[in-house]
Parts: sequence; structure tokens; C-alpha cells
Amino acid sequence: MNPSTCEFIDVQVEEKILRIKFNRPDKKNAINRDMYAAMADAIQASNEDTSVRVIVIEGTDGCFTSGNDLKEFMGDPEVGEQSSVERFIQAVLVAEKPIVAAVTGLATGIGTTMLLHCDLVYASEKASFNMPFVNLGLVPEFGSSLLLPHLVGQRRASEMLMLGKPFSAETAQAVGIVNDVVSPDQVIEIALTIAKTLAALPSTALRLTKKLMKQPQAEAIAHHINVEGELFEQALSSPEANEAFTAVMEKRKPNFSQFD
Ligand code: COA
Repeated sequence: MNPSTCEFIDVQVEEKILRIKFNRPDKKNAINRDMYAAMADAIQASNEDTSVRVIVIEGTDGCFTSGNDLKEFMGDPEVGEQSSVERFIQAVLVAEKPIVAAVTGLATGIGTTMLLHCDLVYASEKASFNMPFVNLGLVPEFGSSLLLPHLVGQRRASEMLMLGKPFSAETAQAVGIVNDVVSPDQVIEIALTIAKTLAALPSTALRLTKKLMKQPQAEAIAHHINVEGELFEQALSSPEANEAFTAVMEKRKPNFSQFD
């Protein structure tokens, strides 16, 4: 199968680094199915590609990604194992090479949850993070309801996942979601410098180290992602979610009282 290409995702390999860059700034880098497919294909292909030693996922000026394309959620959402988003999630889960993220700004929904699976994360001091799944009538995805309570503690995880409370880069670093916070004009440069350091290390030792760190939890995470996924799919067609998506697109407050 040829890897899919997409105008909104730039993919290039330079100096043994696979750079995957969101490129849909006018829609705040909202991720549609073609974008998920292009990222899934690029990450999957990297496992067998000896010219790639590290993967960097990067945003555009001031924006990492506003998460899943809400228009696609509202229209005819792709669901099931073969959906592009599922293929992206699986590709990240089984990626053999280290993944470095350069969070250039806003990271919403999967823009934050994907970071829980990256190996190293660098964020702009102006970046902000939020996972407004409940606010959208949805449930958390990508294993976040398992990983976040472990990483940040139950209290903070409840703020992030139940209230959908946004948090700063400083908080993201304090709770262990982000390695380092740097000035906005340095974030991609720092991520690339770290990627070059990784690329110069012995590749087998690096790959095995990643595997050793991921393996103990891999089965539990995969199982939890499936459980989340089933509930997420059901929630997507709920009246609450439809009202929430419509409200965001119409830039108004949602009214959930009609569903009491
Ligand atoms: N899906 C689809 N389109 C999106 C989007 C998303 N997730 N996020 C932003 N956009 C679009 C907006 O509809 C707007 O399109 P338009 O110019 O055709 O009207 C454009 O991107 C710019 O967004 P806008 O809302 O005007 O920018 P802003 O700076 O005022 O706000 C956000 C940015 C990200 C805070 C706001 O767009 C938002 O809340 N988006 C939804 C985020 C979300 O809920 N994601 C899903 C998580 S599961």
C-alpha cells in the first residue's frame, strides 16, 4: 500500500528524523481523517525504514492542534478498527522509534492525549492544553482515562477530564506531561536538537529501551483504549454531543438542559 499523502500534513525525512508537521493553520490544525491516515502511514512505515531513527510531531506557529475535526464528528464519523484515527492510535502505540513532540501552542483533545504516548515532549511557554471530552458529550480517548490518573494523580485528572479544565505549559511540565517549556520561537529547534541527539545514539539500544519502558503497560493500555473507543463511538451519535459540536461551530454556549 502506498502511504497516503495529505495537503494538511507535511512529512519529510532529514538527518534520520521523520518530521510530521500539522499544516492546517486556518482551522487550528484540526485533524481530519486524511490527516490521521497520512500520519498513521508515515509512522507505520518508519518501523521498517532504516533511514529513520526518530519521529518528531510538530505544530505550526502558536498552534499544535485543536483536536479532531468537529465537522467530521458531526457529519458521518468514521468508526471501527480500520478508521484513520484508530490506525493513527495503533501506529503511535506500536511505533518502534522514539517520538518527540514540539507543542507550539494550543493542544486540545487528542492534541494532548497523544502526548501521553510520546517519548519526549517540548512545549512553548504559550502552549495551552485541554481535554474537553465531557464538555462535548464524549468520553476520554487514547488511554487518557487510564494514563492521566497514574501520571498526574486522581484529583488533577478529574479536573482535566471531568471539568475539561485548560492548563498551562508550566502545569503540564509540573505534572509530567511535558519535559521542558521553552520560548515559542525555540520549541521546534529544541525538539529537533533532542531528536538529533537521539538519532546519534546506538539505534538498537534505543529501540529496545523504548520497548522495555512501554511493554509492561502495553496490554492494559490497548485494552483500555478499546473500552474507551466503544463508549466514544456510542457518545458520538448522542444528542448531547450533537448539541455540543453544533455550539462550538456556531461559537455559542451549549444548552444541555433540553436533554434532562
Ligand atoms: N474542528 C473543526 N474546525 C475547527 C476546529 C475543530 N476542532 N477547531 C477550530 N476549527 C475552525 C473553526 O471552526 C474556525 O473555522 P472558520 O474560520 O471556518 O469559522 C477556524 O478553525 C478558526 O477557529 P476559531 O474558533 O475562529 O479560532 P479561535 O482562536 O477563536 O478559537 C479554538 C480556537 C480551538 C479555541 C476553537 O476553535 C475551538 O474551541 N475549537 C474546537 C476545539 C475542540 O473542541 N476540539 C475537539 C476536541 S475532542
